[in-house]
Amino acid sequence: ADQKIALKERIKRLLKEQQAVLVAHYYVDGDLQDLAEETGGCVSDSLEMARFGRDHPAKTLVVAGVKFMGETSKILSPHKRVLMPDLDATCSLDLGCPADEFSAFCDAHPDRTVVVYANTSAAVKARADWMVTSSIGLDIVAHLHAQGKKILWAPDKHLGGYIQKQTGADMLLWQGSCLVHDEFKGVELALLRQQHPNAKILVHPESPEAVVAQADVVGSTTQLIAAAQSLDADEFIVATDNGILHKMRMAAPGKRFIDAPTAGNSATCKSCAHCPWMAMNGLQNLADVLEFGGNEIQVDAETGRKAVVCIDRMLDFAA
Ligand code: 13P
Ligand code: SF4
Repeated sequence: ADQKIALKERIKRLLKEQQAVLVAHYYVDGDLQDLAEETGGCVSDSLEMARFGRDHPAKTLVVAGVKFMGETSKILSPHKRVLMPDLDATCSLDLGCPADEFSAFCDAHPDRTVVVYANTSAAVKARADWMVTSSIGLDIVAHLHAQGKKILWAPDKHLGGYIQKQTGADMLLWQGSCLVHDEFKGVELALLRQQHPNAKILVHPESPEAVVAQADVVGSTTQLIAAAQSLDADEFIVATDNGILHKMRMAAPGKRFIDAPTAGNSATCKSCAHCPWMAMNGLQNLADVLEFGGNEIQVDAETGRKAVVCIDRMLDFAA
């Protein structure tokens, strides 16, 4: 415990010395989330992380999350230094959508407006008309659908399928998925609900359709935390990365949060309810990256100039 306190103090001192700010996601270790808040940084969903990093005057952004979050920050602020505790922290959606294959898919469907989820590489974003996050994807696709646009969507098939169902838009879906959310199971959730008949069900839209279908609220991490706070219930079943429970418990003290069931448990399934890449962020590597540099996100300038267009469209739409 002493070592933890010392590390936290070291990080606080280094953040000041380096004029750096910590931008964290709700799935990273609770200590990092708390530090981000205590030091004037932010902990939030992907949309707010992007906006916060862009608007903050710090010279250095330290992004505790996964690579696409660091890249989005760099694309929005090419003159800031963007560091990450571990550059190998990626995302199965990003990995499952290589830029060359994606580009060929777009070439094959030139009549479609290209909408990509934030969880993609800078090169994929450079090919897109719009970037969206889980908090605003539904609204943006509804807007495009109202204009009569046909959509090419990538990479998350579950989020894409959910948006398609809600909006009725014509969407051609890339077949990617999140390895964490893909593990949540509809049948087991239905059984668990029988044991907790008064529980409200909170679901991130990267979950399979059978799980989303049972939700009281479907939304981004920020939206799910807000629902935990505002809904009049004592018990919640939560289908998303269990890193979110740290903030949910703080935001709604006295309420009970239960993990949604997965196919396996932590002994049989490495990614059950917790993202292995988010878990690569810790106090030690955060302190080290601040002290010694390295792990700096680089986005090729030309790719960044192309990619920023689709991100700005989303941020302008959200404003
Ligand atoms: P949010 O934008 O909802 O925070 O989601 C990001 C993510 O990677 C979910 O798995
Ligand atoms: Fe990607 Fe899933 Fe991890 Fe989110 S939880 S970063 S979507 S692998």
